[in-house]
Formats: sequence, structure tokens, C-alpha cells
Amino acid sequence: MTQRIAVIPGDGIGPEVVAEAVKVLSRAGGVELEPLPWSADYYLRSGVTIPPDGYATLRSFDAIFIGALGDPRVPDNRHARDILLGTRFELDLYVNCRPVRLLDDRLCPLKNRTRADVDFIVFRENTEGLYVGVGGRFKPGTDDEVAIQEEVNTYKGVNRIVRHAFECARSRRRRRVCMTDKSNAMTHGHALWQRVFAEVRKEYPDVEATHMYIDALAMLLVQDPSQFDVIVTNNLFGDIITDVGAALQGGLGMAASGNLHPGRTSMFEPVHGSAPPLAGKNVANPIGAILSAALMLDHLGRADDAQRIGAAVEQAVQAGEVTRDVGGSLGTREAGDAILRRLS
Ligand code: NAD
Ligand code: IPM
Ligand code: MN
Repeated sequence: MTQRIAVIPGDGIGPEVVAEAVKVLSRAGGVELEPLPWSADYYLRSGVTIPPDGYATLRSFDAIFIGALGDPRVPDNRHARDILLGTRFELDLYVNCRPVRLLDDRLCPLKNRTRADVDFIVFRENTEGLYVGVGGRFKPGTDDEVAIQEEVNTYKGVNRIVRHAFECARSRRRRRVCMTDKSNAMTHGHALWQRVFAEVRKEYPDVEATHMYIDALAMLLVQDPSQFDVIVTNNLFGDIITDVGAALQGGLGMAASGNLHPGRTSMFEPVHGSAPPLAGKNVANPIGAILSAALMLDHLGRADDAQRIGAAVEQAVQAGEVTRDVGGSLGTREAGDAILRRLS
């Protein structure tokens, strides 16, 4: 049975890292990859960010794979908002799953930390929070300007992501969930997180549940990442701490993600952006994209293939056959080939 995948290479280094993920997916087989042109170029040429039936088109696939979106020629980021955030919202992909695993001790920027210390997963709420775009500007451009951006937290939204984190923790060895918020200052929105966390944890007595304020957690991620197993948080905090998570793995080029709605068409993408200064130079690290492709196959019920790709990436990293950002000397294409070779 062939699975149909929509592929949006996007902007900057997006097309280059996607090309490497496509090589790996083609080697794994069983997928039909359909490229979609939506990007800054497409928008600047046509005035269209995503066509009116775009989200319906995306829903008709088994999964979606995105490179990166963002281009200095579109300063208001309109196309990225419609294509990337639009897909997350319109397809209701409420789980942003961002695993943080160190693949080689040498890649960790922390002193005396090894692979055993960096192995956790962040579940970022992906459909509400400060990302909903509720708000406005009054008297823009004047000295009296007022800018309001509201954070939206719903019982349903918080409940489903917290529950997802507990379910995932059950399948892990350490069975720990840390919910992180800023309920000491955000006394309305994050009080709801507190309430839901208190309710849901009662249903999972076999999972160790802890809470940490986001500022303290940010410090501990650097000071002692070994204590984390599953972290669950809101949209914005999740965005920020997963870049810290990327750093713990060697950099943004290493980090993978899935945007999921269990049972529905989901979307997979590296955590990094379009890195405009690196674009077109064959220097971008393709590993975040390739590991995102592995997450996609896992989600599509192909755990063995996902495992094989993960192992090939690990071997290439340990052999130092990687790009410069992670201490190697290879180009994007050659780093992709080093992984591909280990898959045959
Ligand atoms: P970025 O992730 O593009 O780059 C941040 C830093 O990481 C840069 O130093 C870059 O060189 C490095 N880097 C990123 N990916 C790398 C890779 N694969 N290999 C080696 N080094 C890599 O973030 P930014 O510079 O803040 O944003 C650039 C554009 O990307 C902006 O338009 C932003 O909005 C967009 N963006 C998009 C996504 C996405 O599509 N999911 C994510 C983040 C940022
Ligand atoms: C990410 C990115 C996006 C986000 C941007 C490009 C809107 O940083 O996927 O982490 O903030 O979610
Ligand atoms: Mn981000």
C-alpha cells in the first residue's frame, strides 16, 4: 500500500534539506511524494500564499512534509503564517511533538554531559496560546500606539495536549511528565493549565507528575537536562524551549518535529527555519529533516523503517560524516548520501 505525501520544500534551505529527506524516503519506499510549490517565490509571483482549497488538498494526503518557510522579501511573514501556522490550525494539529535526543556526546554543548543526560520529548500545544492572532493595533505608527495580543487557553485545548503527554509518558521507561507554565504571573490563562494538570494527573497514578515555572525550567534545561523525560507546555514556551532543546542536541540542524492530530493527516518538519544566509550553498544540515521524515513513517505505522533511518543517522553522526555546523566537513548532499549509504 502506497502512502501519499504532500511535500512543501518552501524557502531558503528548505528545498535543500527536503531533497535529502526525499532521497531517504524514496529509499524506504512505499510513498508517493507530491511536491507543492507554496513558498515566498510562489507568493511573490502570484499574490497567493495558499490557494482557497489548499487545506482541503492537504487533508487529502496521508501526511505532509514541510522544509521551512520564511523569506526576507516577505517581511510580514504572511505566507509562512498561512502555509505553516495555517496548516497547524486548519488541520487542528494540536500536538507539536519535538524529541530531544543527543546522538553523540561530542555534539552536546554542556560540560561533562553525555547521551544518557539528554533524552526527553517536548509536547508543545500547537493550536492556541499566543499564536491565535487575536488582538489588534490602535493608532499604529504614532506615539500613542497600543498593541494587544491575547493568549487563548481553552479547557479542551489544554486537556488534550496534557493528556497526550501522559499517554506518551506511559510508553517511556522513566514515565515522568513535567508541565511548565507561568501561572505565578499569568493568573488567568495558566490557572487553567494548573487545573487541568491537577485533574489529568489523577488518572495516571503510574506516571510521575511534576510542575515547574518556565523560567526555572529554562535554567534547568541547561544545568541538568537529565531530569527531564516528557515536558508539556503551551505554544510559545514550547517554541522557545525546543530551540534550547535543539542546542542540547548539537544545534538547530539536528532537531525534528511532528505536528499531529492522532488519527488524522499530520505534518512533519525540521524545527529550524529557512536560514536565508545558508541557502543555496550546500551547507545546511539535513538531519533535522531526515529525522522528521522518520517521525512521519513512524506515525504512518512504519516503526521499523523509522528505526532503520534513525540508526543510519546515528551511525553517520558517530562517524563524523556530517555537515560543518556539527563538526563535520560534508555538504548537505554528501551528508544525506552518508546516511543513505547506511540504509542499503
Ligand atoms: P533559522 O532556524 O533559520 O536559523 C537560526 C540559526 O540556526 C542560524 O544561525 C542558522 O544558520 C542555523 N541553522 C538553522 N538551520 C540549520 C541547518 N539545517 N543547518 C545548519 N545551520 C542551521 O532561524 P531564524 O534565522 O530565526 O529565521 C529565519 C527565517 O526562518 C525566518 O523567516 C523565520 O520566521 C523562519 N522560520 C521558519 C521556521 C519553520 O518553517 N518551521 C522555523 C523557524 C524560523
Ligand atoms: C517553529 C517556528 C514557527 C513557530 C515560526 C516560523 C512561526 O519558529 O516551528 O518553531 O513559532 O512556531
Ligand atoms: Mn521555533
